[in-house]
Amino acid sequence: MTDPASPAPAEPHARDTYSDRVLEHLARPRNVGTLAGPSGTGADANPSCGDRTTITVRISGGHIAELRFRTFGCTAAIASASVLTELAAGLSVEAAARLEPADILNALGGLPARKEACALMAIGALRGALVDARVRATA
Ligand code: FES
Repeated sequence: MTDPASPAPAEPHARDTYSDRVLEHLARPRNVGTLAGPSGTGADANPSCGDRTTITVRISGGHIAELRFRTFGCTAAIASASVLTELAAGLSVEAAARLEPADILNALGGLPARKEACALMAIGALRGALVDARVRATA
């Protein structure tokens, strides 16, 4: 039974402000752009704000050889996509497909709770690119 006098447990990644790591990715985003002739392209949008992230990926030998992102979105969306490109680079396709928003939040030192959904958009774009690559490879 929960003690009503105890404070609610904090969300593991929740913050009120942007971490230094988020601000560093905003100032110097990694892997920005669009690959020419990618293995796959994926995009996702946040329906609550209309922001959008697109990721292009090049796959070689079953691994993520290269990826780029473009984001029309907020600070959290840009930092999430930027750090996700770092997390995914070099992984096997299967491992990259298992990346989750929590991996982004851990890598960024958390996001303000109201911004955590912005990390979903980066994951959605990456997964879309991996699905597109699989479809193109079997076409
Ligand atoms: Fe739109 Fe963050 S507020 S993605």
